[in-house]
Amino acid sequence: MKRVTVRVPATTANLGPGFDAFGCALSLYTDVTFEETDEGLEITGCDEAFTGPDNMAYTSYCAVLASLSEEVRGVKIHIDAHIPICRGLGSSAALLVAGAIGANVLRGNKLSTQGLLNITNAMEGHPDNLAPAFFGGLTASMVDNGLPVTVNFPLHPDWEFLALVPDFNLSTPLARSVLPTQIPRADAVYNVSHGAMVLKALELGDEKLLRNGMQDRIHQNYRKSLIRDYEKIEALVRTTGAAFCLSGAGPTLLCITRQRDLQKKLSKKLHDITEANWEMMPLHIDFNGAQILKVE
Ligand code: HSE
Repeated sequence: MKRVTVRVPATTANLGPGFDAFGCALSLYTDVTFEETDEGLEITGCDEAFTGPDNMAYTSYCAVLASLSEEVRGVKIHIDAHIPICRGLGSSAALLVAGAIGANVLRGNKLSTQGLLNITNAMEGHPDNLAPAFFGGLTASMVDNGLPVTVNFPLHPDWEFLALVPDFNLSTPLARSVLPTQIPRADAVYNVSHGAMVLKALELGDEKLLRNGMQDRIHQNYRKSLIRDYEKIEALVRTTGAAFCLSGAGPTLLCITRQRDLQKKLSKKLHDITEANWEMMPLHIDFNGAQILKVE
């Protein structure tokens, strides 16, 4: 076996109050092909800046080989990315997941998906994008004794996800640097209680409960100022009754609703009130998680 292609879904992390814990896989994909060679590292399909050994598909590929005590030989990596980069839709997690699965498949599938999650989580530091990228659906994760533990939650079938993706990016380290390292107890209570409501509302299909539960005091307020148009868009979405949150660390904003015409309702007004260019991406939940598309 010399070549494998892995498809990994986009993910939206946090879902409002579930900071660093909740995540959901969405129907937008990055495909990565790994082919073992005798000629060092070659990465194609992406910007020149990402073709070095710090490419995340390669770093996780190497991390998995290291954990198997296997030698890193030459590898050609081809990336066909449809998940926008640095937009809060899990593009980095997708590369880490692809690299881990690619290495595991090429060396005889010795590790379980949980084993691959353990390795990639040690690299990323929080499992909220990684877990749904591996397993699909809606997940909540905790890190216990250094290891991620993930559970899937049921989702009502009628939810529509509308991602509003701007033409500017935001680095996750910058979006994390503005967060306080300590929070008041009242804010912790606020997030725990709201987070529980979000999971139940997503299961029941209860849009009002989701709208009210999907509020947070740990990260979104601190990140707003990094995202042009955030407050105007939030106010606009709230007039429609849809639930609203920051997708991951941003800058993508996410609406969750059962209304089939939300995109139509928002489209003209969104353009009128914003300075940046925001693309509307209607997405569905991906229930499969990462898939091996082809092995040769
Ligand atoms: N939970 C993470 C954050 C997601 O909000 O910073 C991005 O990696």
